[in-house]
Amino acid sequence: MADEQQNIPGQDENPGEPKPAAGLLDRVKVELEPFKVKLDQDIKALKQPEKTQLYKSVFRVKHDETPRSRSLGVISNVFLHLHPARINRDAVRYSYTWGMGGISFYLFIVLTFTGILLMFYYHPSKIQAFRDVLYLEHDVPFGKLLRNMHRWGAHLMIITVWLHMFRVYLTGSYKKPREFNWCVGVILLVLTQLLSFTGYLLPDDQLGFWAVTVGTNMARASPMLGSEGPLGPEMGMTPFNDVRFALLGGSIVDSNALLRAYIWHCVAIPVVVSTFLVVHFWRVRKDGGISGPSPVMLEKEIRWDRLDESTVKGRG
Ligand code: HEM
Repeated sequence: MADEQQNIPGQDENPGEPKPAAGLLDRVKVELEPFKVKLDQDIKALKQPEKTQLYKSVFRVKHDETPRSRSLGVISNVFLHLHPARINRDAVRYSYTWGMGGISFYLFIVLTFTGILLMFYYHPSKIQAFRDVLYLEHDVPFGKLLRNMHRWGAHLMIITVWLHMFRVYLTGSYKKPREFNWCVGVILLVLTQLLSFTGYLLPDDQLGFWAVTVGTNMARASPMLGSEGPLGPEMGMTPFNDVRFALLGGSIVDSNALLRAYIWHCVAIPVVVSTFLVVHFWRVRKDGGISGPSPVMLEKEIRWDRLDESTVKGRG
């Protein structure tokens, strides 16, 4: 028993006396043991990261090629689950959708990102605005690229949204049950153009100034809401309370107009567009996914054993 006790490493029988070197080594070994175990575990984890709890908490399903795992992979991912796990192959052919809805959305993301970066340099005031644009063009590193990405992205988005609407029309996708989503789309089209229009004034250059002058003069002729439009005067509209006045924050294109355009462009319209986009995408799902020709079945996918004789004969 006494011998056994002597062999227990780390036990100090005679405190105060100098300890033998072997005892010290044993104690160090015992104390290092938990570190060794941890190190072994860490090395194992590095060799097989997919076995770790951390990995399993991020990737919750197996990533093999079975249809079940692939579906689970889509459903359990916050971004991918926005797409259906299974779709009609022909409905997503580029030749059918032109990918224009997706490209429009992609451009909206690019515009939001570059727009936020531009906001770091831009002040919406008559004194600063145009100078900020010159500063971006000539001094800010990559400023010219940033500004042009935003500007060309905006032009492109107008084109792609129109093309998207055109293909939706050509494929008859505005018909039952997609009437509501068509209406949401029309609102998105108007909002996209308003985004472009309000952005046009922001550089406060001659081009923007005159474009907004012309545009808001047209607003003056709106039915009922414009002071010069049909039924406008009857509704009590004057140049100082009509829709043009509301857009400009005054009766001329000046600093109030710039500030209003800035707030509409950078805050209000993007928030409204984002909200309508969520509804738009949600509706695409609820209306049965992207419309399309009836699914084609490949020869290899046909379960001949499940077809009755007459069907097989009928196919020749
Ligand atoms: C900001 C603008 C818009 C974005 C980002 C957008 C995005 C999308 C996306 C990604 C789809 C899925 C199918 C596809 O890519 O073609 C889609 C479908 C659809 N969009 Fe848009 N869209 C916009 C504007 C419009 C406009 C202006 C209209 C029509 C007035 C419209 C009507 C529809 C309809 C009816 C569908 C369902 C089509 C189908 O099921 O085949 N959208 N949209």
